[in-house]
Amino acid sequence: MKDTTAPLHAPEAQTGQDEFAQAVLDGLRRNPKAIPSKFFYDAKGSHLFDKICDLEEYYPTRTELGILRSHAPDIATIAGSDATLVEFGSGAGVKVRLLLDALDTPRAYVPIDISRDHLLASSAQLDADYPALRILPVHADFATPFEVPRMASSNVVGFFPGSTIGNLTAEEAVSFLHVAAETLGKGAGMVIGVDLIKDRDVLRAAYDDREGVTAAFNLNLLARINRELGGTFNLDHFAHRTVFNEAHARIEMHIESTKAQSVTVAGLRLSFEKGERIHTENSHKYTVSGFSALAGRAGWSVRAVWTDEQDWFAVLYLERLDG
Ligand code: AVJ
Repeated sequence: MKDTTAPLHAPEAQTGQDEFAQAVLDGLRRNPKAIPSKFFYDAKGSHLFDKICDLEEYYPTRTELGILRSHAPDIATIAGSDATLVEFGSGAGVKVRLLLDALDTPRAYVPIDISRDHLLASSAQLDADYPALRILPVHADFATPFEVPRMASSNVVGFFPGSTIGNLTAEEAVSFLHVAAETLGKGAGMVIGVDLIKDRDVLRAAYDDREGVTAAFNLNLLARINRELGGTFNLDHFAHRTVFNEAHARIEMHIESTKAQSVTVAGLRLSFEKGERIHTENSHKYTVSGFSALAGRAGWSVRAVWTDEQDWFAVLYLERLDG
């Protein structure tokens, strides 16, 4: 029976107002200017991201969902019964349902997310829909090491869908996977979604859609700075830019100043030249063998790989090398 007395309690985030202010001021004083992509996800940004996932041009979400739908039984066979599932960056909590429905008596689900309202809303929904499952939300930056609430005799499986790992550089990805191996513990597995290298036009369109939802998502970062840090950005004088960086096999998003101007943020005056950019996101694309090598450097071996018909996206089942 479910312990209905346990409240859905999310521990405080490591990502308070101070961290946001510090990161923005540091990033805007640098040359070239840059702000980490994790700050996209305030309530408005999380909502816009969910809209991106429904766009025609944004293939990753539906492609990964298709792979998970087809192979959830295979994933469940490898994961075994009584698993504790830990999701890094859980968002709306849609994909995990495919795994929860396929797994044999999953014990607990630990969603970790930086967006508190999003986390609590999706946790409450899952709690209602999966009465036998313990839901233990953690409000945090998923890259921060934390203690996995361990259920008696349950094996631990990480879940990191959406190619969110692509937002990290290769070095950051290796160190994240190292930390995740430590966090999840000996014998852990990890189901991870990775976006694959493909036609440049397909890639670029996915990050520069016709409706301008991705542009709104990118520019919301400036609106968030205005709202939370007393910024004076005029969004009419900044534009969304997407480029494919061949050398690093990554899509980059930037915000470009369309004229020479100055802006104040938290009392600090910053100047922009016409055409100057703020780098806001990297989204790395991999080959299956390239990603497998990267996982190997971080202490994981590849147990299984599933892709879609076009080889646009891959879901890998990783296992800790030391068993
Ligand atoms: C957070 C990794 C799923 O990089 O594709 C979508 C974020 N940015 N459109 C990605 C994003 C612009 C996305 N992920």
